[in-house]
Amino acid sequence: MKQMTSEKLRELYLKFFESKGHKIIPSASLIPENDPTVLFTTAGMHPLVPYLLGEKHPEGTRLTDVQKCVRTGDIDEVGDLSHCTFFEMLGNWSLGDYFKEEMIPWSYEFLTSEEYLGIPSDQLAVSVFEGDADAPRDEESAQLWIKCGIKPENVYYLPKKHNWWGPAGLTGPCGPDTEMFIIRKEKCSPECSPACDCGAFLEIWNDVFMAYNKVGEGQFEPLEQKNVDTGMGLERVLCIMNGKESVYDTDVFEDAIAVIEKLTGKGFKDDPETTRAFRIILDHVRTATFMIGDRKGITPSNVDQGYVLRRIIRRAVRYGRNIELPTGTLKDIAEAFINKYKDAYPELLDNADRIKEELLKEENKFQKTLQTGLKEFEKVAAKVTDGMIDGITVFHLYDTYGFPLEITEEMANEKGLKIDKEGYEKAFAEHQSKSKAGAEGKFAAGLADNQAETVKLHTATHLLQAALQKVLCDDNIQQRGSNITAERLRFDFSFPRPMTKDEVKEVEALVNEVIQQDLPVIMEEMPLSEANERGFFGIFDSKYGERVKTYSIGDFSREICGGPHAEHTGELGTFVIKKEQSSSSGVRRIKAVLVPNEK
Ligand code: SER
Repeated sequence: MKQMTSEKLRELYLKFFESKGHKIIPSASLIPENDPTVLFTTAGMHPLVPYLLGEKHPEGTRLTDVQKCVRTGDIDEVGDLSHCTFFEMLGNWSLGDYFKEEMIPWSYEFLTSEEYLGIPSDQLAVSVFEGDADAPRDEESAQLWIKCGIKPENVYYLPKKHNWWGPAGLTGPCGPDTEMFIIRKEKCSPECSPACDCGAFLEIWNDVFMAYNKVGEGQFEPLEQKNVDTGMGLERVLCIMNGKESVYDTDVFEDAIAVIEKLTGKGFKDDPETTRAFRIILDHVRTATFMIGDRKGITPSNVDQGYVLRRIIRRAVRYGRNIELPTGTLKDIAEAFINKYKDAYPELLDNADRIKEELLKEENKFQKTLQTGLKEFEKVAAKVTDGMIDGITVFHLYDTYGFPLEITEEMANEKGLKIDKEGYEKAFAEHQSKSKAGAEGKFAAGLADNQAETVKLHTATHLLQAALQKVLCDDNIQQRGSNITAERLRFDFSFPRPMTKDEVKEVEALVNEVIQQDLPVIMEEMPLSEANERGFFGIFDSKYGERVKTYSIGDFSREICGGPHAEHTGELGTFVIKKEQSSSSGVRRIKAVLVPNEK
């Protein structure tokens, strides 16, 4: 098979779909907009959910991109051949435009054509949906594949468990999919199929034909707008194309591996334990680099995204000890990733200093207590008689030595012990009012929350940002994070000092004034350059973006934004700021709610 680098694969994919009339759009942030159900962007389609549900996209109905994604659900598996917490997904979308008849021949062309991946047709297998009470057998896709040149014996019909994608949450758009596989070796038995995990079939791409809206358990309605959503994991395809054993043997990790080898004097493949430690460090430092370097930059903390970041940095530090990685060098590994990815993700270069600083700060913080914490752990573990470390001790390791629960659990498991999580949660709740509870529940993918309340709070966030700029007389106030649930908004912005009580009151009053004026919220699409000229602002990766959606509220607020928004400010009710506090250094946080007006 063709040898290929990550740079080349991204380029080929985007070029191919551009030649089929697609607009190349930039990767969205790793932090989902207005989706309180998840902490991170988990799939290429995730940022596009509103558009898959019918919202108009400014770039049209054919889109393609390379999306950065984070999934931490399988963090314990990182270290094996294939698991990563960060990955890139190549994807293309039809928003009510083309469907199976175009997509399947395109997939075949991209996979087999010499100009693109050049995979021999007889090394490809596909699976299609076998049909059930909810939707018919996808004979159409099967026939399209055979017409393209896939051998009939390489077309497999599989049930919903394997050939249905979505919804991302409990309800929403979904549909049958067709998956593509490389045939790696002989089948293990006559019944063997892509559903078998013997390794004969390796998945490389997934085309989802979103034709249904799941409205309840077992209830599927035909979707008005039929979409295509495809996803191809970059690292996985690189691994297969280049005949590598593991994703960690692909070019994306090469430079970082060299850095670790130099720092430790050890070889990546010295022995299985060393290899595992290398992989964990590689994965975790890469993920941390992208999290801190995101345009909505995350910093280590004890809640939500910041907690996940803290956890992965500390886990990297712990594994660093196993291979004698010198203290304070995670930043050097990060540097290798920044250089490797800087063209595809320029935000990494823009934020390079911050990435290195935050890594160093967090590493130093943990290093201070790591040694004594490990000793304490050994002492505690030696005293355990019933196979379980009690909750108060686990909390003590967290609170005094900075050991995230998951790290203590992992160390306990290595000794064949368990930890009392319930007891830990109790101790935690007693000790701190703000708990990270809730954060854990948010790992599964979820649909963007389009509820009316969330939409209103989104509009209120725009008013808040404009009011802050006016009251604090600072046009440079920058959004550093926004998180909206149906109950409240949370807005982080750059500002060097606490706001005074009067300023808070003034901001609140100004927002309410605009609400009372009942101004229409107006959406317009325009080229990014025009939006900039007309004073619309927004944090926006403009690398590929040409046309953008803008929202204006009178001449009070102008932002580049994907929406959706309320139609009139009068719908919002009364705006109340509940808290103004520090979020991290140089960043303030406001929490606010909307109180419905009496009818
Ligand atoms: N949503 C599908 C996936 O994540 C295709 O993009 O596999």
